[in-house]
Amino acid sequence: MYQPFVLALLRNPRQVGAVAPSGPLLARAMADAAEPAGKRILEIGPGTGVITEALLDRGAPRDELYLLERDVTLAAFLGRKFPDINIIVGDARTISNLISPDHAGNFDVIVSSLPLLNMKEADKVSILKQFFTLLGPDGALIQYTYSARAPIAPALATRCGLRGTRMSTVFRNLPPARVWKYDRDQGPIGQ
Ligand SMILES: C[S@@+](CC[C@H](N)C(=O)[O-])C[C@H]1O[C@@H](n2cnc3c(N)ncnc32)[C@H](O)[C@@H]1O
Repeated sequence: MYQPFVLALLRNPRQVGAVAPSGPLLARAMADAAEPAGKRILEIGPGTGVITEALLDRGAPRDELYLLERDVTLAAFLGRKFPDINIIVGDARTISNLISPDHAGNFDVIVSSLPLLNMKEADKVSILKQFFTLLGPDGALIQYTYSARAPIAPALATRCGLRGTRMSTVFRNLPPARVWKYDRDQGPIGQ
């Protein structure tokens, strides 16, 4: 589990954005916030698949679960670990080009491990617009952060028409993490 993560970290520390895979308690907290049973789910930046496992344990339907991972070596690792799950190799910044347009508005939840705080503002805005185009009207984005601050700055969330709610704090994770949920506050994002 650790070896593929450490190799990815050495290849691109900024892109991985963490010193260790998500711990089991953080993975469970993400799955609790996602309430995955019976839902169509897109997981972004699954890394070594720790959160994927928690989503499956909590009833995520295997044929309705899609993983998007940018690191090709981690994506290959995920393919061996979850041979029956849809894996897309690519960058979340261009996700609209990677997923069939038939999926627009079709996902119930997006579960993200993206290192958002390391990203440029313009990339965050673009990613959030694309995510909320893929999500249905009641869809939600679940995102964790190691920061005491929200993973999406309140001003940016407001600008994008999103409402952020802190769902839990996981102290027994390295480092401690907070799980946030974002949903639409004022109708579809970008309108
Ligand atoms: C903090 S690590 C994920 C940890 C993961 N939850 C685990 O336990 O292994 C962030 C992950 O997001 C991926 N990632 C970073 N930027 C990305 C992007 N723009 N598009 C897709 N995946 C990205 C990294 O390759 C890495 O696997």
